Amino acid sequence: MTNSSRVTRRAVYPGSFDPVTNGHTSLIERACGLVDELIVAVARSDSKTPMFSFEERIDLMERTVSTLDVKDQIKVVGFDGLLAKFAIEQKANAIIRGLRAVSDFEYEFQMALMNRKLAREVETVFLMPALSWVYLSSSIVRDVATHGGDISGLVPPQVAAAIKQKLQSNK
Ligand code: PNS
Repeated sequence: MTNSSRVTRRAVYPGSFDPVTNGHTSLIERACGLVDELIVAVARSDSKTPMFSFEERIDLMERTVSTLDVKDQIKVVGFDGLLAKFAIEQKANAIIRGLRAVSDFEYEFQMALMNRKLAREVETVFLMPALSWVYLSSSIVRDVATHGGDISGLVPPQVAAAIKQKLQSNK
């Protein structure tokens, strides 16, 4: 098969990204090695009462992606509603999710099987972040930051600045 006739491999990488961490960027870079186009899908996730608004999370993700070498492969899109429906609308072949530890597995497995039921043609692919980020999550970053801990080196610099600003404006 010649390169020009090859089907574009497109995946969706969904999450609340509240906020985007270095673990997420590690996943984004790895996913871009597997697919031609990656849609980083920021979920509205209003029920989770996020620290950052939907618009702020999209903006932070766009600014983060713009710093990556793989930026030309990536589109950042906000979505609301069912992920499976969104993936089909975006003509994605795969959903990328990160797996850090056994504790992630049950929820991720349930979600992957449900998404397969809703969108048979879309495969869920699990990737592991770089070892340094295995313990990292958005919720632990929020918790450490809220209690005055140092989160530099765990999130991109523009995200660390946004968290600092958010915490100051909430005082
Ligand atoms: O980063 P998160 O919060 O773990 O991401 C979870 C997310 C947003 C991917 C998940 O909650 C989701 O897919 N939400 C959209 C609604 C949906 O499709 N729910 C059914 C999942 S089987």
